[in-house]
Amino acid sequence: GASAVVIYNGPGEKGPVNGTLNKPSTLPVIGPSHKVGAALAKAAEKGGLHLRVRTDTVHGERRTANVIADTDHGRGDNVVLVGAHLDSVPAGPGINDNGTGAAALLAIAAKIKELGEDGLRNRVRFAWWGAEEEGLRGSTHYVKSLSPSDRKSIALALNFDMLGSVNGTRGVYDGDHSVRAGVRAPAGSGAIEKMFRDYFERRHLPTTEHVFDGRSDYGPFVEAGIPAGGMATGAEGVKTAAEAEAFGGSAGKPYDPCYHKKCDRLKNVNLKLLDSNVDAIAHVTQHLARTTVAVNG
Ligand code: PHE
Ligand code: ZN
Ligand code: ZN
Ligand code: ZN
Repeated sequence: GASAVVIYNGPGEKGPVNGTLNKPSTLPVIGPSHKVGAALAKAAEKGGLHLRVRTDTVHGERRTANVIADTDHGRGDNVVLVGAHLDSVPAGPGINDNGTGAAALLAIAAKIKELGEDGLRNRVRFAWWGAEEEGLRGSTHYVKSLSPSDRKSIALALNFDMLGSVNGTRGVYDGDHSVRAGVRAPAGSGAIEKMFRDYFERRHLPTTEHVFDGRSDYGPFVEAGIPAGGMATGAEGVKTAAEAEAFGGSAGKPYDPCYHKKCDRLKNVNLKLLDSNVDAIAHVTQHLARTTVAVNG
């Protein structure tokens, strides 16, 4: 159905306000969250997604928003959450980091709509996080705000942060080898890794394991015991000779030469790499939404 519910919880405001993003002046701030959030709300009104916008005090006087949209169909107690951060660092426009991830979610939402929601067994929740660059604040706020039963209702969380690095690799989060001190990746994270790797293997496209250290918005989910996974094509790290052999590009040069810089513009995206990654994300998301997933907990 073509319904949009936007819940705006402004700091100091009581209760949800249904409608559109009605107070843009109180939703500023880090990165493009508010502007993009307003655009998403508008699109959702036409599109059949339920949108919830939550704001959070990030630091000092600043506030930002998570934009959260659910499909109408699918089990609400077995949610497939797909997330990407919407903010950028102040230094640049953040097109690879993380316009690519944010756009991938939109593409997948459109694809789900095109294919029809009737086949969805499990609800898909799209989450555009605010304030990732300030220390995963939007996703942390969201996970902290979940009641125990809300937390259990999330079967797994996928995360996409930097999908088209110009000198990138095709990195799948190494779900069966969490290296975060003291935090074991929840069982299920390895199975998600395998789904991505199997997809690319069938397409004869190379992949590599991307360190699963909590340096993006899946971290708070892992810490809460929710299985997580996703992909990334590389940030400030330097490409190895073996990676250049497998993926092309330049050994000894950073995966993203414009990481957190002013030059992170549209030109700073490997569109071919992005395109193949979006295909994989669409495939895995649809598969998870259309099949039975082990209920978390
Ligand atoms: N989360 C980092 C950022 O947004 C990017 C990153 C992800 C770096 C994973 C390393 C590993 O800047
Ligand atoms: Zn970043
Ligand atoms: Zn990022
Ligand atoms: Zn692995």
